Amino acid sequence: MRTIAVIARKGGSGKTTLAVHLALAAHLRGRPALIADTDAQRSSSQVLRGRTEVGPAWVETSGPKLFALQLSALREGVNTLVVDTPAAIEEEISHAIVAADLCLLVIRPTFLDLAAAIQTAEIVRRLRKPALIVVNQAPVARNGVEPPAVKRALQALLLMRLPVIPIILRARAGYQSALERGRSVEEMEPSAEAAREIAELWTFVETFVFGRDAAQAVR
Ligand SMILES: Nc1ncnc2c1ncn2[C@@H]1O[C@H](COP(=O)(O)OP(=O)(O)O)[C@@H](O)[C@H]1O
Ligand SMILES: [Mg+2]
Repeated sequence: MRTIAVIARKGGSGKTTLAVHLALAAHLRGRPALIADTDAQRSSSQVLRGRTEVGPAWVETSGPKLFALQLSALREGVNTLVVDTPAAIEEEISHAIVAADLCLLVIRPTFLDLAAAIQTAEIVRRLRKPALIVVNQAPVARNGVEPPAVKRALQALLLMRLPVIPIILRARAGYQSALERGRSVEEMEPSAEAAREIAELWTFVETFVFGRDAAQAVR
């Protein structure tokens, strides 16, 4: 079992969107997945409750209970545990960071998101946790050319001294309509750009946490 914590200092960055999509990506590829919803707003639970198909399990919990949850998830054969977290100061999400095999820092390419992420990056470094940055809600690139705001953000992200996943998630209405139905963009419209982004992102994350061989074996 691997644990992936999705974190961001700012609300609205896309933690829940990403957490649910990763759990669904694992589920759709035959990896039993569980979402640990540690946000009191319970958004990811609400999304999955709206799902009519079989899907990832979810549990409403809190940071201090994550270790016990990991033990029971292991016993129950969970393969991929995704932790959704609140927009909170780092102390509150430190349990999730400690529990994780990989932390994903979700950042929108805006000045305020970038500024808020600097301390979070410092904490994951101090806790010696593998961490990667996911850029979310970026404006769409035209003819392969990144909008200036995204270019500037990618430059600024170098200051975080954390690797940035080369697959950027764009601002697309498809993410919102998918979650309204408790579904992944991959299920809604498999040929759409959003589905391609999420599939590529999952492959990247899966290879990172499970290793190349294990990631291929599950296919
Ligand atoms: N890539 C995206 N494209 C379009 N809308 C998005 C995207 N990611 C998130 N959103 C929307 O932004 C809002 C905040 O996202 P959410 O995942 O709830 O963030 P958080 O959990 O960090 O507060 C939601 O309305 C969600 O549908
Ligand atoms: Mg959320």
